[in-house]
Order: sequence, then C-alpha cells, then structure tokens
Amino acid sequence: MALYSEKVMDHFRNPRNLGVLEDANAIGEVGNAKCGDIMKMYLKIEDDIVKDVKFETFGCGSAIASSSMATEMIKGKPLSEVEKLTNKAVTEALDGLPTHKIHCSVLAEQAIKSALEDYRKKI
Ligand code: FES
Repeated sequence: MALYSEKVMDHFRNPRNLGVLEDANAIGEVGNAKCGDIMKMYLKIEDDIVKDVKFETFGCGSAIASSSMATEMIKGKPLSEVEKLTNKAVTEALDGLPTHKIHCSVLAEQAIKSALEDYRKKI
C-alpha cells in the first residue's frame, strides 16, 4: 500500500482554498513545537456560518493536505458543526494518514478552534 492515499496526494498537489482571506473576521494560527510547522486559518463568519475560508500552511505535505481538506469540510457550515470538527474526521476524509503524520491533522483542528476563539473574543 502506498504511504499516502490518493486524496492526500491530490490535496497536497492541488490545495483548495490556499491563500490569505483579506476580509477574514476570524484568524487562527497554531504551530507544532516539535516539527516547527505553522498553520494559519482565515475565516469569514456571517450569521454563524463560515461563508469563506482560506489557509496558509508552512509545513509538510500532510499538514497542507489536512488544512486543504479541513477548509472544504467547514466551508458553508454553521459554527455549531465547525467547532465539532476533529482531526480524526479530517484524517478519515483523507482516507487516512501514516501514524507518524497524525499530528499534522491535529494542527488543522487546532487552527480552526483558534480562529473560532479569535472570533468569539471580538463579538
Ligand atoms: Fe509537522 Fe506534518 S510534520 S505538521
């Protein structure tokens, strides 16, 4: 079996929602102290719905694929659903990650949670 699923390779090669969201009203940034990778999530929230989302990830391919998939999973969704997104769900949506790369998907969950915290501080 290949180390990485086709979905991981696809999201790594063609990341969805990559970049900076100029009119974001919630920004979350997290890092992993061990590998030094950093992930930033930009959310535009209106009426408790994630209207738009973009990300920047300075990290490994699994982190890029995880953030890309996570943005797809929260776009257009109500905050009540978004706050429940787990790294496990992201990993499953990617058809799995190697065990030593699971922490990369944790960054995606944490970056979204950090953006939601940022949003709640402002309202
Ligand atoms: Fe650090 Fe993947 S190795 S996020």
